Amino acid sequence: MRKLTLTLLLYCVAVAVYASSEVGLKSVKINLKDVGALQRGGKYYVNYCMGCHSLKFVSYSSLAKGLRLEEDQVLKHLMVSWSGKKKIGNYMTVSMSKEQGMALFGKLPPDLSTVARSRGTDWLYTYLHSFYEDPKGRFGVNNTLLPGVSMPHVLVHLQGLQVAKFKKVVSRVGNSEVTKSVFEKFEPKEKGILSPAEYDAMTKDLVTFLAYVGEPAKLERQALGVWVILFMLVFTGIAYLLKKEYWRDVH
Ligand code: HEC
Repeated sequence: MRKLTLTLLLYCVAVAVYASSEVGLKSVKINLKDVGALQRGGKYYVNYCMGCHSLKFVSYSSLAKGLRLEEDQVLKHLMVSWSGKKKIGNYMTVSMSKEQGMALFGKLPPDLSTVARSRGTDWLYTYLHSFYEDPKGRFGVNNTLLPGVSMPHVLVHLQGLQVAKFKKVVSRVGNSEVTKSVFEKFEPKEKGILSPAEYDAMTKDLVTFLAYVGEPAKLERQALGVWVILFMLVFTGIAYLLKKEYWRDVH
């Protein structure tokens, strides 16, 4: 019992420490079955993100299938072709080399095929809301979720520019006082062409698309799961009847 109490206590402390080190995340409720959101998200991704971020595990043909689009539509509107040859079986790669990435950003923009799984959808949604003006940043901006970020705020003309307000928090460590600046809130500075609600909707579509890309088989798996359970139920019934039949003469 004492061990259990201790474990629970340690768990609570761990959760509290973890939670306090995190900037609060905005929560987003995505629906992977919303084909419209997936299509819009795919369009935004190709237009605003694929200049830098590949989706190297996704082929254009699987994109067409997942987004319920004709292959021709994908070839014409969504495919970025670096070599000039457009083939539906190609993967969604980018042409940026490691050297170019290093020179421009100090690192190669990461592939985003599985980012929704590693970071989570709330994190991605919050990340796209957390760029703020910072003259010291590489591109004049920073991000509360990735301090010192080397990605420009590529959606700034849509969202507008915001500034971040930090507050000083003084805490005591032993005899000395430590002052930390803690993020408080964002304040708008320059308007973008989208309203805040429109920007929320747009980034939600982008996150929906990235979540789909991270696990394209999720919907199929869930649909299959229902049939598997139904089969098990029916099979249990048949097995029971069979058992009754076999044992009838014995009893
Ligand atoms: C001009 C190039 C460029 C464009 C365009 C761009 N990014 Fe980035 N992105 C970067 C770079 C560089 C990083 C690495 C940032 C760092 O770690 O400091 C990055 C990092 C990220 C990360 C963090 C990944 C992680 O797990 O650390 C996410 C998420 C992301 N980008 C999403 C997007 C989305 C969504 C778009 C389109 C709306 C986009 N990016 C457009 C350059 C770009």
